[in-house]
Amino acid sequence: MYDFQIDPADKPAMWRELNAAAGALTAGEPDPVANMANVSALLFETLPDVNWAGFYRNVDGELVLGPFQGRAACIRIPFGRGVCGAAAATLEPQLVDDVHAFPGHIACDAASRSELVVPVLDADGGLLALIDLDSPSVARFDREDEAGCLDLARRLSGALAGMAKMVSKG
Ligand code: SME
Repeated sequence: MYDFQIDPADKPAMWRELNAAAGALTAGEPDPVANMANVSALLFETLPDVNWAGFYRNVDGELVLGPFQGRAACIRIPFGRGVCGAAAATLEPQLVDDVHAFPGHIACDAASRSELVVPVLDADGGLLALIDLDSPSVARFDREDEAGCLDLARRLSGALAGMAKMVSKG
Protein backbone atom coordinates (compact mmCIF):
# COMPACT_ATOMS: atom_id res chain seq x y z
CA MET A 1 0.00 0.00 0.00
CA TYR A 2 2.81 2.40 0.90
CA ASP A 3 6.27 2.14 -0.59
CA PHE A 4 8.46 4.87 0.84
CA GLN A 5 11.90 4.90 -0.78
CA ILE A 6 14.13 6.53 1.81
CA ASP A 7 17.88 6.66 1.25
CA PRO A 8 19.75 6.31 4.57
CA ALA A 9 23.02 7.70 3.14
CA ASP A 10 22.55 11.34 4.24
CA LYS A 11 21.31 11.09 7.82
CA PRO A 12 19.61 14.50 8.28
CA ALA A 13 17.91 14.10 4.86
CA MET A 14 16.93 10.55 5.78
CA TRP A 15 15.25 11.75 9.01
CA ARG A 16 13.47 14.56 7.13
CA GLU A 17 12.06 12.04 4.66
CA LEU A 18 11.25 9.53 7.38
CA ASN A 19 9.38 12.21 9.34
CA ALA A 20 7.49 13.35 6.24
CA ALA A 21 6.51 9.71 5.61
CA ALA A 22 5.42 9.30 9.25
CA GLY A 23 3.29 12.44 8.89
CA ALA A 24 1.68 11.06 5.73
CA LEU A 25 1.04 7.67 7.36
CA THR A 26 -0.65 9.11 10.44
CA ALA A 27 -2.46 12.08 8.86
CA GLY A 28 -6.14 12.08 9.75
CA GLU A 29 -5.92 8.79 11.68
CA PRO A 30 -6.92 9.13 15.35
CA ASP A 31 -6.20 5.53 16.42
CA PRO A 32 -2.93 5.54 18.41
CA VAL A 33 -2.31 1.78 18.04
CA ALA A 34 -2.59 1.94 14.24
CA ASN A 35 -0.28 4.96 14.19
CA MET A 36 2.35 3.35 16.44
CA ALA A 37 2.19 0.13 14.39
CA ASN A 38 2.81 1.88 11.09
CA VAL A 39 5.53 4.15 12.47
CA SER A 40 7.39 1.22 14.07
CA ALA A 41 7.31 -0.56 10.69
CA LEU A 42 8.58 2.58 8.95
CA LEU A 43 11.43 3.01 11.47
CA PHE A 44 12.48 -0.64 11.30
CA GLU A 45 12.44 -0.74 7.52
CA THR A 46 14.23 2.60 7.06
CA LEU A 47 16.94 2.69 9.74
CA PRO A 48 20.04 0.61 8.99
CA ASP A 49 21.62 -1.53 11.72
CA VAL A 50 18.56 -1.54 14.02
CA ASN A 51 17.27 -4.75 15.64
CA TRP A 52 14.27 -3.30 17.51
CA ALA A 53 12.07 -0.26 16.85
CA GLY A 54 8.86 0.50 18.65
CA PHE A 55 6.90 2.05 21.45
CA TYR A 56 6.34 1.80 25.17
CA ARG A 57 3.13 3.45 26.41
CA ASN A 58 2.57 5.29 29.65
CA VAL A 59 -0.24 3.29 31.27
CA ASP A 60 -1.07 4.70 34.68
CA GLY A 61 2.54 5.57 35.43
CA GLU A 62 4.03 2.29 34.20
CA LEU A 63 5.63 1.62 30.81
CA VAL A 64 3.77 -1.07 28.88
CA LEU A 65 4.95 -2.53 25.58
CA GLY A 66 3.28 -1.05 22.50
CA PRO A 67 3.52 -1.82 18.79
CA PHE A 68 7.05 -2.67 17.65
CA GLN A 69 9.21 -4.53 15.13
CA GLY A 70 11.90 -6.90 16.33
CA ARG A 71 12.15 -9.69 18.88
CA ALA A 72 9.53 -10.18 21.59
CA ALA A 73 10.33 -7.74 24.40
CA CYS A 74 9.90 -6.99 28.07
CA ILE A 75 6.21 -6.10 28.62
CA ARG A 76 6.23 -3.85 31.71
CA ILE A 77 8.99 -1.46 32.81
CA PRO A 78 8.73 0.71 35.94
CA PHE A 79 9.58 4.41 35.60
CA GLY A 80 13.22 4.87 36.60
CA ARG A 81 14.35 1.39 35.55
CA GLY A 82 16.75 0.88 32.64
CA VAL A 83 17.07 3.15 29.63
CA CYS A 84 13.34 3.42 28.93
CA GLY A 85 12.57 3.98 32.61
CA ALA A 86 15.14 6.79 32.72
CA ALA A 87 13.51 8.50 29.73
CA ALA A 88 10.08 8.17 31.36
CA ALA A 89 11.26 9.48 34.73
CA THR A 90 13.19 12.47 33.32
CA LEU A 91 11.18 13.13 30.13
CA GLU A 92 14.59 13.52 28.46
CA PRO A 93 15.95 11.56 25.48
CA GLN A 94 18.42 8.81 26.37
CA LEU A 95 21.28 8.26 23.92
CA VAL A 96 23.26 5.25 25.16
CA ASP A 97 26.41 4.20 23.31
CA ASP A 98 26.84 0.96 25.26
CA VAL A 99 23.85 -0.45 27.10
CA HIS A 100 26.11 -2.86 29.00
CA ALA A 101 27.51 0.17 30.81
CA PHE A 102 24.06 1.61 31.64
CA PRO A 103 22.97 0.90 35.23
CA GLY A 104 19.81 -1.23 35.34
CA HIS A 105 19.63 -1.79 31.60
CA ILE A 106 16.98 -4.38 30.76
CA ALA A 107 18.33 -6.83 28.18
CA CYS A 108 15.32 -7.84 26.10
CA ASP A 109 17.56 -8.99 23.27
CA ALA A 110 21.11 -9.93 24.20
CA ALA A 111 22.22 -8.68 20.78
CA SER A 112 21.34 -5.04 21.61
CA ARG A 113 24.38 -2.87 22.29
CA SER A 114 23.25 0.74 21.83
CA GLU A 115 19.93 2.45 22.28
CA LEU A 116 18.05 5.69 21.64
CA VAL A 117 14.87 6.43 23.60
CA VAL A 118 12.81 9.59 23.05
CA PRO A 119 9.65 10.61 24.94
CA VAL A 120 6.45 11.54 23.11
CA LEU A 121 4.71 14.25 25.12
CA ASP A 122 1.15 15.52 24.96
CA ALA A 123 0.24 19.20 24.57
CA ASP A 124 0.55 19.68 28.37
CA GLY A 125 4.01 18.09 28.53
CA GLY A 126 2.75 14.79 29.99
CA LEU A 127 4.25 11.49 28.87
CA LEU A 128 2.18 9.61 26.29
CA ALA A 129 4.75 7.06 25.10
CA LEU A 130 8.40 6.41 24.32
CA ILE A 131 10.01 5.74 20.96
CA ASP A 132 12.67 3.05 21.54
CA LEU A 133 15.38 2.15 19.00
CA ASP A 134 17.95 -0.61 19.60
CA SER A 135 21.02 -1.57 17.59
CA PRO A 136 23.41 -4.53 17.74
CA SER A 137 26.30 -2.07 17.16
CA VAL A 138 27.99 0.01 19.87
CA ALA A 139 27.37 3.77 19.43
CA ARG A 140 25.03 3.28 16.48
CA PHE A 141 23.00 6.41 17.32
CA ASP A 142 24.26 10.00 17.44
CA ARG A 143 22.93 13.52 17.99
CA GLU A 144 21.54 13.63 14.42
CA ASP A 145 19.45 10.54 15.17
CA GLU A 146 18.36 12.09 18.46
CA ALA A 147 17.30 15.32 16.70
CA GLY A 148 15.43 13.36 14.01
CA CYS A 149 13.70 11.21 16.58
CA LEU A 150 12.74 14.28 18.65
CA ASP A 151 11.18 15.74 15.51
CA LEU A 152 9.29 12.46 15.05
CA ALA A 153 8.12 12.55 18.69
CA ARG A 154 6.76 16.09 18.22
CA ARG A 155 4.89 15.03 15.07
CA LEU A 156 3.45 11.99 16.84
CA SER A 157 2.10 13.95 19.79
CA GLY A 158 -1.16 14.60 17.93
CA ALA A 159 -1.23 11.13 16.34
CA LEU A 160 -0.97 9.48 19.78
CA ALA A 161 -3.16 11.97 21.63
CA GLY A 162 -6.01 9.44 21.61
CA MET A 163 -4.07 7.54 24.27
CA ALA A 164 -4.84 10.25 26.78
CA LYS A 165 -8.35 8.78 26.92
CA MET A 166 -6.93 5.31 27.64
CA VAL A 167 -4.33 6.26 30.26
CA SER A 168 -3.80 8.64 33.11
CA LYS A 169 -0.38 10.22 33.28
CA GLY A 170 2.03 9.06 35.95
N1 SME B 1 16.62 -2.14 26.81
C1 SME B 1 15.50 -1.41 27.28
C2 SME B 1 14.29 -2.29 27.44
C3 SME B 1 13.40 -2.29 26.27
S1 SME B 1 14.03 -3.15 24.99
O1 SME B 1 15.18 -2.49 24.47
C4 SME B 1 12.93 -3.34 23.80
C5 SME B 1 15.77 -0.65 28.55
O2 SME B 1 16.70 -0.92 29.31
O3 SME B 1 15.02 0.26 28.81
